[in-house]
Amino acid sequence: MSPPARLVGDGVENPANAEALAEAARMFAVPCGFRDSRGLAAHLPDLSTVTTAALLGGADPLIAVDNTPGAESVYRAGPLRGRASIVVGNERRGIRPDVLRAAARTVQIPMPGRGVNTLNVATAAAVALYYLLDAHGRRQARAPRPESHRPTLLLAAPRDHVEAGSSLRSAAAFGWQTVMADDREKVWFGTPRPIRAEARAAARSHRNPLRVVPAGDAWSSRAGSRVIVCAPDVDGPPLHHAKLTGSSTVLVIPDGDGWEPPPDAEFARVTVPGEPGRYRLVTGIVLAETARQLGTRTVTARRPPRRGLSYSSMLGHTALPNTDLVHPWELTAY
Ligand SMILES: C[S@@+](CC[C@H](N)C(=O)[O-])C[C@H]1O[C@@H](n2cnc3c(N)ncnc32)[C@H](O)[C@@H]1O
Repeated sequence: MSPPARLVGDGVENPANAEALAEAARMFAVPCGFRDSRGLAAHLPDLSTVTTAALLGGADPLIAVDNTPGAESVYRAGPLRGRASIVVGNERRGIRPDVLRAAARTVQIPMPGRGVNTLNVATAAAVALYYLLDAHGRRQARAPRPESHRPTLLLAAPRDHVEAGSSLRSAAAFGWQTVMADDREKVWFGTPRPIRAEARAAARSHRNPLRVVPAGDAWSSRAGSRVIVCAPDVDGPPLHHAKLTGSSTVLVIPDGDGWEPPPDAEFARVTVPGEPGRYRLVTGIVLAETARQLGTRTVTARRPPRRGLSYSSMLGHTALPNTDLVHPWELTAY
């Protein structure tokens, strides 16, 4: 059977992102090619390339995945009927205009976050493939007042600094303002972060930082909350059938099997037709699905919490020691 799609990276320039993109394609058992306008092949000799003529003149319709004005929501776009070339773009400039003009459809992943409005390119590809190729029988999205149902997020034992950083970028872009991290592999706290020169001016604004709280300080106070562990290798309903929302829910995304879930934990499985992908791809899919279930924010006057503080609002209000403030300009480096 021929694959239902192919993934194309248009002008991707970072070789590490190109490798992550190829892994996103393997997760969904589809081929991956690159229109290499940025010299990627010099770093990756086995790179599979696509010419402009083959990309624009091929038989498969093009689906551009980018956050351009007017693009339709990926949550409503799939699953696709028939084969397509699914295109993602350059880390800074996005998809080139010739592809945007030729595309049969342009889809975006809605970004409710304040300050970070794009995902890492490979993460975006994994999220798009999840909704365009699969995720049948999804739970109904909820409205109104989605913010009062946002679960607490725990990134459990990430094993790599860049994967943790990309996952935090996704969390901020999908609207989390506080994230707990169990950093037992010591990949985040105290580790130097890349700093991009052009971001220094933006740093002065100090707007909308993401608060990253060490789980050790906060986890002990989770009494009464529901814990749901989302991973590719757990026994449980598919992610998009499980309820991922609720103010007293703690959403845990472990990296590998080194993290022991509590005995009362529930599980949701990240099902993909191919190989399990790296951490940023899994966290991207889980956070996208949680954001989809939360629904779109409607603008209403802010109401005070009805009874005491939920677990997540407790995290937001307590001056927990060792909280790391990560600024949007830093997150877009991942
Ligand atoms: C980091 S984005 C940069 C370009 C982007 N147009 C911008 O506003 O800066 C790199 C690529 O990742 C994909 N991407 C990232 N976030 C996305 C989103 N929210 N919706 C759709 N595609 C996204 C797109 O393919 C995009 O070309």
